[in-house]
Amino acid sequence: MIEKEFSAAIKSEIANLNFPTNPADLYDPLRYIMNLGGKRLRPILTLFGHYLYNDSWKKALRPALSVEVFHNFTLIHDDLMDAAPLRRGQATVHQKWNESTAVLSGDVMLIEAYNLLLSIDANMLPAALARFNKTAAEVCEGQQLDMVFANQAIVTDQDYLEMIRLKTAVLLGFALELGGLMGGADAQEQKVLFEAGTYIGLGFQLDDDILDVYGDPATFGKQIGGDIIENKKTLLLIKALELAEGENLNTLAYWLAKKDADEEKVKEITAVFSTLGIKNTIEALKMAYFQKGVALLNTLNVPQNRKDELLAFLWTLISRNS
Ligand code: IPE
Ligand code: IPE
Ligand code: MG
Ligand code: MG
Ligand code: MG
Repeated sequence: MIEKEFSAAIKSEIANLNFPTNPADLYDPLRYIMNLGGKRLRPILTLFGHYLYNDSWKKALRPALSVEVFHNFTLIHDDLMDAAPLRRGQATVHQKWNESTAVLSGDVMLIEAYNLLLSIDANMLPAALARFNKTAAEVCEGQQLDMVFANQAIVTDQDYLEMIRLKTAVLLGFALELGGLMGGADAQEQKVLFEAGTYIGLGFQLDDDILDVYGDPATFGKQIGGDIIENKKTLLLIKALELAEGENLNTLAYWLAKKDADEEKVKEITAVFSTLGIKNTIEALKMAYFQKGVALLNTLNVPQNRKDELLAFLWTLISRNS
């Protein structure tokens, strides 16, 4: 499986990254979060994007890591914004250090992401940089909507889907597209890669929202119920508000009005979700988005065995537990 080769290469390339060391409190959190692991999904997608078109995927490693470093920067800031205690089974940066450190270490990681992108062939840099910048700004836009929606009573399915497209999906799309760009995909193929990755990303965030409620604490690595505590307008909550009547609706309204509640709030709202069968509804939608992404990938004129390897990897992603 080429994916195993990708993972091993990503791991050793990360170990060889020469990030600065001084001041320690600025750069230690960067090493900390990068060494906590994670699925490395985005750089794997970049390498796949390249591999679909070209054998020399190793040339794409540094730019692929640029996407991973950018992702890890967003996680540090996201955890601060979400008041999250746990990331990949360990303390979040703002908890382990402090909030100012989380802001500034995150900022410098964004700069490091740009440094890594600079390793791309000079003739590809303008295009890659423009696409990187558009994606990065969209992630910020999505994160802002996520924050706004937490304090907004009515959020529609469409609002939610646009928010997750921005905060999560476009980065997966870009990861795949960047690989294609480096591997020699033409402009139309790059667009297909981006759109396919975006569909996969929508399914991926729906899954993240399901796992936030129903994940196994032993493997998920994040606080279960974090979204419920923060009144995040996930599609699980939006659907529950749509379907709930009587006592169930009262329960949701009661806990949504209550700030600073945790365990009991998580338990009660999860019970309403379960009574209403919300998980199955969202699972079905998640699968539909994954399938749209796969259907688009299937239109690409690339070696079938390579495409199959990418699809096999995507199927493992669908049934993830972390
Ligand atoms: C977490 O991303 C943030 C989301 C967009 C859901 P991942 O689930 O890819 O996190 P890691 O990198 O594997 O830890
Ligand atoms: C975050 O979404 C997406 C980012 C841009 C980081 P979440 O807030 O759901 O991500 P997790 O669950 O904390 O990883
Ligand atoms: Mg979060
Ligand atoms: Mg968040
Ligand atoms: Mg989440």
